[in-house]
Amino acid sequence: MSTAEQDRKDAPLEAGLRQEIAALAQHAGHKRAAGTDALKLVQKRFGYVSDRHLAEVAALLEMTPAELDSVATFYNLIFRRPVGRHVILLCDSVACWVMGATAARAQLHERLGINPGETTADGRFTLLPIVCLGHCDHAPAMMIDEDQYGDLDPAGLDAILEGYK
Ligand code: FES
Repeated sequence: MSTAEQDRKDAPLEAGLRQEIAALAQHAGHKRAAGTDALKLVQKRFGYVSDRHLAEVAALLEMTPAELDSVATFYNLIFRRPVGRHVILLCDSVACWVMGATAARAQLHERLGINPGETTADGRFTLLPIVCLGHCDHAPAMMIDEDQYGDLDPAGLDAILEGYK
């Protein structure tokens, strides 16, 4: 990530985004109930939720940063560190493990040069492990961004990756 891009990502939340979060809180009836949705909005805008933005959202929702961070930590699709343009969530729960998730992970490592928790040098992909995606009948399974994939095999996995630039 360039310095300019990092500066942009660390900029304060714009007025429009703050208003969207306030509207979410009002709709939820209880400000704290809007925590996950507010963090998703920030992540959609910036790609992840920085400490600065977490603290700003917490203040808007009348929570402490630690309280809101516990929401973010519990909800494992909120990223608290910068991620690549596309996030691969590879299931590592039992059904997928039995059906070949280890081979899929090895293939991802071979093709992309990253291990779980890492981002490619070009910022194209971040690979993260995740618990069951609820797609066990098509294990091994993964998600890339909002897209779900199952029955992963070597050729299919390569073709899927090609779709994400
Ligand atoms: S165990 Fe992988 S999707 Fe359920």
